[in-house]
Amino acid sequence: MIDPSSINQIVDLAHIEDVVGEYVNLKRTGGRYKGNCPFHDEKTPSFVVTPGMGIYKCFGCQKGGNVIQFVMDIENLSFTESARFLAKKYGIDIVETNSGNPDVSMELQREKESLQALNDFALTYFQDQLLNHEEGRTTALPYFKERGYTKESIDFWKVGYSPASWTAFYEYAKVKGYSEDVLLKAGLIKQREKDGSYYDLFRNRVIFPLVAVNGKVIGFAGRVMSKVDKAPKYVNSPETLLYKKSDFLYALSQSKSEIRKYDKVYLMEGYTDVMTLQQAGIGNVAASSGTALTPGQIRMVRRFTSNVTVIYDGDVAGMKASLRGIDLLLEQDLNVRVVPLPVGQDPDSYCKELGSDGFKDYLKNHEQNFIVFKAELLLKETVNDPLRKSEVISDILSSLSLISDKIKRELLLKELQTKCDIPIQTLYSEINKLDRKNRQNDSQKSISQELSLLKQVEATINEYADPNTEALSDKHQERALIRMIMLHGNKPVGTEDLKIIEFIIQELDDEENASFQLVHEPFTSILEYVREYYTQNNNAPEAVDYAKHPNTSISKFAAEIYSSDHILSKAYSDNLINIRTEDDNYPKELIDIFLNLRRTKIEEMILEEQKKLLDPEEDDSEVLQVLDYLVGLRRKIAEQIGAVTARL
Ligand code: CTP
Ligand code: MN
Repeated sequence: MIDPSSINQIVDLAHIEDVVGEYVNLKRTGGRYKGNCPFHDEKTPSFVVTPGMGIYKCFGCQKGGNVIQFVMDIENLSFTESARFLAKKYGIDIVETNSGNPDVSMELQREKESLQALNDFALTYFQDQLLNHEEGRTTALPYFKERGYTKESIDFWKVGYSPASWTAFYEYAKVKGYSEDVLLKAGLIKQREKDGSYYDLFRNRVIFPLVAVNGKVIGFAGRVMSKVDKAPKYVNSPETLLYKKSDFLYALSQSKSEIRKYDKVYLMEGYTDVMTLQQAGIGNVAASSGTALTPGQIRMVRRFTSNVTVIYDGDVAGMKASLRGIDLLLEQDLNVRVVPLPVGQDPDSYCKELGSDGFKDYLKNHEQNFIVFKAELLLKETVNDPLRKSEVISDILSSLSLISDKIKRELLLKELQTKCDIPIQTLYSEINKLDRKNRQNDSQKSISQELSLLKQVEATINEYADPNTEALSDKHQERALIRMIMLHGNKPVGTEDLKIIEFIIQELDDEENASFQLVHEPFTSILEYVREYYTQNNNAPEAVDYAKHPNTSISKFAAEIYSSDHILSKAYSDNLINIRTEDDNYPKELIDIFLNLRRTKIEEMILEEQKKLLDPEEDDSEVLQVLDYLVGLRRKIAEQIGAVTARL
């Protein structure tokens, strides 16, 4: 287990805005940052990072927490894995302790770890086979050389070779202690049905490792080297716990810094396209591995840039097939451009033909807006077919209507007019029709852009902010109590020299209140932490202490409380919303909370006892005695609270 001191160090040194900033385009507003949530699709930012507190919170999908939680969420890692991930990145030495406690997700994590270890092992094996063994050196290495790849490229992309034998990798991995079970799970070997024997997935192929954006090898692709082969050109790893095809973009891990540097990505289809362009000095590249773009892939790209230039293979069928995927990019408010290639060329072949300078020039001169490109492509076929033409126009305009920026749209309309020779009147009347459909939505959207975030925050808070709602469960009241401690713990209760935290602890420790203990998580854990902290320091923890707490359920709740409180108080002072600030109201709030907390619990107990009266087995006199006590307690509490209220 990782020592808590190391966790603290990680949380202190890995600044939330830096870590999140690698995945989200953050804009500074006041003391906070805002951006589009990386965990769900949205156009209006609901995602807030509060650096001072070390927390993030999305008010759209409710994800939130500290920096370790963020890495858990975005990289799909366990707590320990995320901590190690950050430690590595920030050069922090982790201290290990042995008092590990078993975890429910331990099994899954262990499986992931063993798959990872195997993939790392396989990567080394394939590279070694390519570079240091006779077979690889005489077949695969020349293959790469003939295609023009340099030693640097071979090393950079960590490409390799799988020998022609049916079992070379399997046998070697067995010797090194990898079980059939994990080899099958990783998809590196397969089992024959007829006799149960095993064989390698990759045989006599050059290997392209699939590297996740965090730098880990999650799978492989193998390409045949000779065209006579009847086998498929590429064989890919199956999906595993580590590799999800629809969320993977080839090369993103290796090229993300270039993509960010140029604020642009060239998106292509193939592994070799990416390799060739990178070798030609165009490093901001990624490949969709031949599939139509998925929302998951787009989310990945959007972490690094919003300018996507698709380089199309030069065949019309392929282009048309991809048109739909591109609408997805527009919907995500990305700026989409395309560079068409001559028929029969792909980026790899054409870059080699033109040479690196020539190809760079070509890119510069042939890059065009996606919608204009789409219009030209589709309209070519409609010359003598007016019906088809009007279909195509409305298709193009519906792509155009996905662009929310009105100025951009206007410019494109003009360009469509000149390039595609569509009378602008036709365009306007068509787009107006579409617009009318969307207008109500649209204008509402823009008016409520800022307010929507506030509304979301408000909704989160309203869930428990009104202690008079009958439907409030004890869970909500426990939550309100913990929130009170977290927001106002060190403030005085009324005029007395008593802090909120002391008042609450006293009340909870009062023997007569023994049955009023909190029962819901994370509130019990937070209270336990607060008590421990209070015993040592005589006051309540500070906001950052919760936010940076290694128990993620605590830091998550802190993210919710502090992010929303921050936004609300700012919004209130800006006159954006009409919700009372609790700063001046907290003593009254405290009483309300206690009153309700206790009342709920006592009512529950009274109800329990009353039920017993209906049970013939129960001793009525005993039950009545208890009931009498409870009712007395209820009255007494009311008096106590009355007294406190009077003092305020
Ligand atoms: N692909 C695949 N399986 C196939 C064919 C293609 O996974 N049987 C994916 C690969 O990611 C490939 C991409 O689709 O890189 C594009 O396919 P293609 O254009 O046929 O290959 P190229 O990338 O041009 O590969 P090469 O230059 O090596 O021929
Ligand atoms: Mn190719």
